[in-house]
Amino acid sequence: MENCDTLIRNALVLDGSGAEPASATSDVAIDGGRIRAIGKLSNYNSRNVVDAQGMALCPGFIDVHTHDDTNVVRTPEMLPKLSQGVTTVIVGNCGICAAPVRLDVKSTPPDPMNLLGVNEDFHYPNFASYVDAVNAARPAVNVAALAGHTSLRNNHMDRLDRTATAAEIRGMQIDLQDALDHGALGLSTGLAYLNAISATTEEVIALAEPLAAAGAIYTTHMRSETETVLQAMDEAFRIGKESKVPVVISHLKCAGVDNWGRSGEVLQALESARSKQSVGCDCYPYAAGSSTLDLRQVDERVKITITWSEPHPEVGGKTLAEIAELWGKTQKDTARELQPAGAIYHSISEEDMRRILQHPATMIGSDGLPNDPMPHPRLWGTFPRVLGRYSREHGLFPMHVAVHKMTGLPASRFGLADRGLIREGNRADLVLFNPQSVRDVATFENPKQPAAGIAAVWVNGVLSYKDGAATGERGGCFVARQSIH
Ligand code: ZN
Ligand code: CU
Repeated sequence: MENCDTLIRNALVLDGSGAEPASATSDVAIDGGRIRAIGKLSNYNSRNVVDAQGMALCPGFIDVHTHDDTNVVRTPEMLPKLSQGVTTVIVGNCGICAAPVRLDVKSTPPDPMNLLGVNEDFHYPNFASYVDAVNAARPAVNVAALAGHTSLRNNHMDRLDRTATAAEIRGMQIDLQDALDHGALGLSTGLAYLNAISATTEEVIALAEPLAAAGAIYTTHMRSETETVLQAMDEAFRIGKESKVPVVISHLKCAGVDNWGRSGEVLQALESARSKQSVGCDCYPYAAGSSTLDLRQVDERVKITITWSEPHPEVGGKTLAEIAELWGKTQKDTARELQPAGAIYHSISEEDMRRILQHPATMIGSDGLPNDPMPHPRLWGTFPRVLGRYSREHGLFPMHVAVHKMTGLPASRFGLADRGLIREGNRADLVLFNPQSVRDVATFENPKQPAAGIAAVWVNGVLSYKDGAATGERGGCFVARQSIH
C-alpha cells in the first residue's frame, strides 16, 4: 500500500484542459502539496480519505483579474475568493498595484489606486518587500502580481495629467525590471483612467521594453470601452506587437447604451488580432461594471448605484438618480459633489456579455473590489455564477469548458506552469463542487454572500474550505512568473 496526505475517491475529474472527463470517476492522491497520482488508486491509502460521491473535482480557479493587492496581506482569510473555489488571485490589474509604490506620508493614493486601500496600506517601496509580506501573511489563496503603469507613473512623476518624459520612463522601467526580476507576471495599464489617459501609446511601448526578455505579459484596461473601443483594441495590439509580448484585454465589454450590440464587431477584432499575435481577454459574468465614480460615465439612461462616497457616506446604496432627485440637482452635479466615490454602472447588455463570455479566448476574472462597503456581487459570486448560471442553466458552454476558462487557460497564458491542470506533479490546488447545485448567492442587494455548492477547496494540498466554512488552515504563497506558452 502507498500512503499519501489526502486521498480523494470517486470524483468526476474535470482536469482543466478543456477536454471531456476521461472517465466517470477517478481517485486523486495528494502528497507534499502536489498531486501524486490520478486514476483507480486501490493501492493507495491515507489518514484523510474524502469520498467525492461523483462530484466534480477540478483545478482551483485562477482569478485573473483582481484588486486584492493589499487585502491578501491585511485579510489573509480571503473568504470572498476562497469560498468560490478560487485558489490563486492575480493582482496589480488596471494599472494599479501595491508594489512597487512610494507615496508621500500624507498624500492620498491617486484615483483609482484608492480602490486598493488608504495611504497606510501601501508600504511596499519595492517588489521584493511585497513578496516577503505575502509569504509572511500566508494568505488562504496564492498570489501572483502584475506591476501597474499608473502606480509606476505616480512613483516618478510630479503630476499625472501629462505624458512621461524620457527620464521618467527610464525610472519606471527600473521599477518594472526590478519587479520582473522578483517574479512579477508583467505590466498592466488602466489607460481609461484620468491619471493614465495622458500617457501616449509611445510611453507605454517604451515602458514595456523589459517585458519580452523576461517572458512577461501585457494586460490592459483599455483607453476606451465605449465609442472608440475598436481603436483602443488596436492600441493594445500595437503595444503587444511592438513589445513582442502576449496581450490580455481586461474585462472586455461594450460599455454604454449607445454601444450595446457591438460585441460581434469587438470579437471580430479580437479574432483577427489572434491570427497574428498572442491575444486573450477576460470577462466578469455580469451586465454591470464597478469602479470609482467617473463623471464621464454619468448617463441618465443608465442605473448607477453609489457604493461609497467620502464626503457623503450616508448615500451608500442609493442610486445616483435618487440622490439627484433628493438634492434637486442634475446627476452630473450630484456626482461631482459625491467625489471621491464608488459606483456600480448597469451599463452593459446581457447579450453582449454572454457572447464575450462564450468566446474561446475569454478567461474569467472577477474584478471584485474587496474594500467596497457595498461591493458589486462579482466579488463573491463570479466563478460559481459562470458554472451554475451560465454553464448549467443557460448552456453557454459545457462544464468542462467553463472550468478550462478559469484554470488551464489562464495558467498557460500567465505562465503559472505547475497549476491550472490536474496532472501528476502539479501543485494540489483543487476544488470539489456539486455540478448540480453550484451557484452564486451574492446579489446586488445583498452582495456579501458565499456561493452554494462548493464542497471543498485545497490550496497547495492544504484543505482550506469545507462544507461552507473556512477550515482555518491557510496554504497560499506568492507565485512567481514561470513561463509563457
Ligand atoms: Zn479595470
Ligand atoms: Cu480592474
